[in-house]
Amino acid sequence: MKALIGALAVLTLLTSGIANSAEPSGQAVYEKWCLPCHRAGQVGSVQLQQRYKGAIPAVLTERTDLQPALISVLVRKGGQVMPIFRKTEISDVELEALATYLTKPTK
Ligand code: HEC
Repeated sequence: MKALIGALAVLTLLTSGIANSAEPSGQAVYEKWCLPCHRAGQVGSVQLQQRYKGAIPAVLTERTDLQPALISVLVRKGGQVMPIFRKTEISDVELEALATYLTKPTK
């Protein structure tokens, strides 16, 4: 019985590892590539604070109005200040996960 439970635990670990590698975490992509500029007080948040004058949150993860299309355009084409991200940096699958992460309801 113990061996069976052990085998099941190993199997669960293995399959969760596979699931993770197939489906990237949007949050992880965000934290790696976006957070350096988009955390509170950094250039992205400061610029967005000026743009919207506080009418909507300056921090992207607090926004409820973001659409996947806007995120894709910004990431691939860049903004006035924001850089372009290549597919070797953020793959299409990662971009999709990122867009899902940023557009999912906050509550
Ligand atoms: C080098 C700093 C920097 C990085 C890294 C960065 N951004 Fe930005 N981002 C900005 C700045 C500055 C602005 C506002 C000015 C502009 O349009 O460039 C902005 C604007 C945006 C906007 C526009 C919001 C609006 O309402 O106009 C979105 C969406 C966005 N960023 C998403 C992202 C995502 C997603 C990532 C990660 C892949 C990211 N940014 C990485 C600096 C950055």
